[in-house]
Amino acid sequence: MPEQLEWDFERFKREWPRDLAAHVREAYRIDLTARYLGETLPHPIGKGSGQLSLSAGQLEDDASAGLAFVVLKTLIAEDETGARTMAAWAVHETKMKVEARRAADGRDGWTVTWKGRGWDRSLADYLALVRAGRDLTRAGRLLVVPSVKYHLPRLDEAFRDAEYRHTTAALAAAWGEKEPPLLLEKDFSPTLAGDPLADDRAQILRWLGEVPHRIRAASPLPVKVAVKLMNARFDDTFQVEMMQATRDADALVCFNRLFDTQRDVAYGGWDLSDRNLRVLNFYRPLPTSTDRYRLLVGTGNICSGRMILEYASRGCESVQLHTFFQLPLAEYPATYGSRSQRALHALVFHPEHGLIAGMRDLEARGTLDRRNGELHFLDVSSHAHRAS
Ligand SMILES: Cc1cc2nc3c(=O)[nH]c(=O)nc-3n(C[C@H](O)[C@H](O)[C@H](O)COP(=O)(O)O)c2cc1C
Repeated sequence: MPEQLEWDFERFKREWPRDLAAHVREAYRIDLTARYLGETLPHPIGKGSGQLSLSAGQLEDDASAGLAFVVLKTLIAEDETGARTMAAWAVHETKMKVEARRAADGRDGWTVTWKGRGWDRSLADYLALVRAGRDLTRAGRLLVVPSVKYHLPRLDEAFRDAEYRHTTAALAAAWGEKEPPLLLEKDFSPTLAGDPLADDRAQILRWLGEVPHRIRAASPLPVKVAVKLMNARFDDTFQVEMMQATRDADALVCFNRLFDTQRDVAYGGWDLSDRNLRVLNFYRPLPTSTDRYRLLVGTGNICSGRMILEYASRGCESVQLHTFFQLPLAEYPATYGSRSQRALHALVFHPEHGLIAGMRDLEARGTLDRRNGELHFLDVSSHAHRAS
């Protein structure tokens, strides 16, 4: 087995298996099946919303590379007149800088420095992208999910339901009625965490309690809502409180990047994964919770298969990455293919840090058992739920 992994790692630097998950299952008896918002995925690795999911061409490349899912860039919601209360987030900014970032404990990691915010083109352009994503989803090539930032009122204000209605109905129409439900991610971004709007805990808890319900009420199609939680500028206990306040969400994406108030930018690296994993360590689904609470998705500083397993062992059924798809080419062991493909190669096949190596270690330590002769990725997260 170790030889097979070395061999695959070497040969897949230059060529790529037609069906990654099928190959892993056949060669290693490892079932990588994962889930996002209740949808079955061939493996857990997807792309988080951002600058890498802005065009149909990027989606096509990711489908060819074999990513399991892609979340589209976050759209800023509007009402039927085109008015957007969150217009301050529709900032046009193209320049991104991939930089080393040293964590508080001295470890060196990566971050992407970027001053932009949400989708900066028209709703019509976004709907065209949703239709391209829908076609790939229906063809079974790549699960594509839109992401939206809707109006978030102050405590003494009402929600602008017109924004929720108009934008959600437009997305539902673009998605079509053939294959409901509509899947949707609601972004609470790091720049929001850094905004005076998010200074008030009660205000944040109100948003989290009400927003999923408002999206559901606004949608003409059955809809499943994943809430991508921001890392609020409060302590870990409040972060858990936020998770529990998001009662009506079908899934929680844990958690968007940290916010550096001095430099006025969002950042990632080891500080981000440390914070996220620490909070997930002491999150417990409420005793009265339904399965809804159990659907967790990890994000933040995922640069190895072992880090995927860190999130999975805290209950995450899939993961979404951004920074690892942006590294300088020399950082990937593969010498061929798109960045998505090279990233997948390292995440899955790296003989020391990859997902296969990590799952086989869990087996060796007695933490993961074979069922019908196979190791199952989803058993890693379901063990976390049982333990809690
Ligand atoms: C340049 C950039 C733009 C991003 N834009 C969005 C966005 O529009 N909506 C969103 O939900 N997350 C956005 N993110 C967050 C990523 O999807 C991801 O959750 C986060 O960066 C943590 O993962 P990472 O450490 O792998 O980058 C963005 C991240 C980066 C680096």
